Amino acid sequence: MARPLVAEINLKALRHNYQLACQQSARDQALAVIKADAYGHGAIQVAKALEDMAPAFAVAAIEEAETLVAAGIKQPIVLLEGFFSADELPLIHQRGYPLVIHSSWQVDALSLFFKQDNQDQINPLQIWLKVDTGMHRLGFAPDQAVQVHTLLKQQPWVKEIILTSHLACADDLNNPFTQQQLSTLFRLKNQLGTPVSLANSPATLGWPSACEGWLRPGIMLYGASPLKPGHPLGDQLQTVMTLKSRLISVRQIAAGEKVGYGGRFVAKKPTQIGVVACGYGDGYPRQAVDGTPVGVRGQVCQLAGRVSMDMMTVDLGNLDNPQPGDEVELWGPQIDVNEVANHCDTISYTLLTGLLPRVKRLYI
Ligand SMILES: Cc1ncc(COP(=O)(O)O)c(C=O)c1O
Repeated sequence: MARPLVAEINLKALRHNYQLACQQSARDQALAVIKADAYGHGAIQVAKALEDMAPAFAVAAIEEAETLVAAGIKQPIVLLEGFFSADELPLIHQRGYPLVIHSSWQVDALSLFFKQDNQDQINPLQIWLKVDTGMHRLGFAPDQAVQVHTLLKQQPWVKEIILTSHLACADDLNNPFTQQQLSTLFRLKNQLGTPVSLANSPATLGWPSACEGWLRPGIMLYGASPLKPGHPLGDQLQTVMTLKSRLISVRQIAAGEKVGYGGRFVAKKPTQIGVVACGYGDGYPRQAVDGTPVGVRGQVCQLAGRVSMDMMTVDLGNLDNPQPGDEVELWGPQIDVNEVANHCDTISYTLLTGLLPRVKRLYI
C-alpha cells in the first residue's frame, strides 16, 4: 500500500468558482490567475479544466507561461510582473504574451529591443501599464503613468494599453484605503480613456465598484475565501483541494504523558493519540499549534504535539474505536484551510502554494 497522503483536486468546484468570478464582471472578463502552479493545484490541469471558459490566464513569469504553452494552452497568458531581464523579450515577442510594465527600465528595454528588431516583423503587444495607486510595491506613480502612457501610445510595438493596479487592503471591507486606490485609478482611466484591471479575489467578491474591465481572481478560484465567513459571495465558493491522509497508528497515553518532539503536548487526562501520515516534509506547516483542527473519520479532532517531517499526532478525543487506516482530512470541505492557516499564523495562500511535489495530486 502506498503512503496515503493525497491532495484531491475537485475540478468541478474550480469551474463553479471561476463562474462565480465571471458573474461579478459585466462583460465576463475574468482571467484566471494560475501562477505558482495554480496556487499548488497544478497549473496545466487547472488551465485545461478552465480552457473552455476562461478567455485568458495570468502567471508570474515567462517560465510558467511556457509550461502552459507546451501543454497546448492557446489562450493569451498575461505576465503579471512583465519580464525580469531583456533576454526574455525575443520569446515574449514571438509568443505575443500580454505583459505588465511596472518600471522605466522595462520601457527602455522594450524600446531598445524593437529599435534593433526589423520594424516590418513587429508583432504588437498588449501592455498592462501598472500604476502604483498606494500599495507601493510595483508600478508607476499616477503622474508618471500618464507620461508613460503617452509614450507607449506612440510606439508601433504597442497594440493596446490596459491600466492596472493592485489593491493592498481589499480583504478588509471596511478599509477606506481601497476606495482611495480605486478613485486614483478611475481618475486616470477617465483622463486617458483606457480599459482597466483592478480586482483580485477579495475585490471581485466584496468591492463591486472594482469589478470593471479585466478581473484577476486567484485564491477564490481554489475555493478559499479571502473574506471573513458570512459574506454572501465568499460563502458560495466551493473547496477545490482536499488534503487527505490516514491514521497509521493509534495509542492510548496516560495523564501527564507527553507527545512528540520537545514533548510540547502534555495529556491532561488519558488520551487517544492518532498518528497521521502528513508532515512538514509535505508542506504542512510546522508552526501549527496544538488545537489546530484535523478531521478524523468525519469528526473534528485537534493537533497534539509538534508536526514532524512525515507525521503528525492528533488528540482523537472521544472518537469511537479509532483504527489505523481511518480517513483524515487536513484541509478540505470539513476543515477550512483558512482555519488551519489561522492556527499557523499564516494565510491560506501559503498553505496551498506550500504543498510540496511529493504530495500526489489526484484530479476528480
Ligand atoms: C497582480 C496580481 N493580480 C491578481 C492576483 C490574485 O490575487 P488573489 O489570489 O488574492 O485573487 C495576484 C496575486 O497575488 C497578483 O499579484
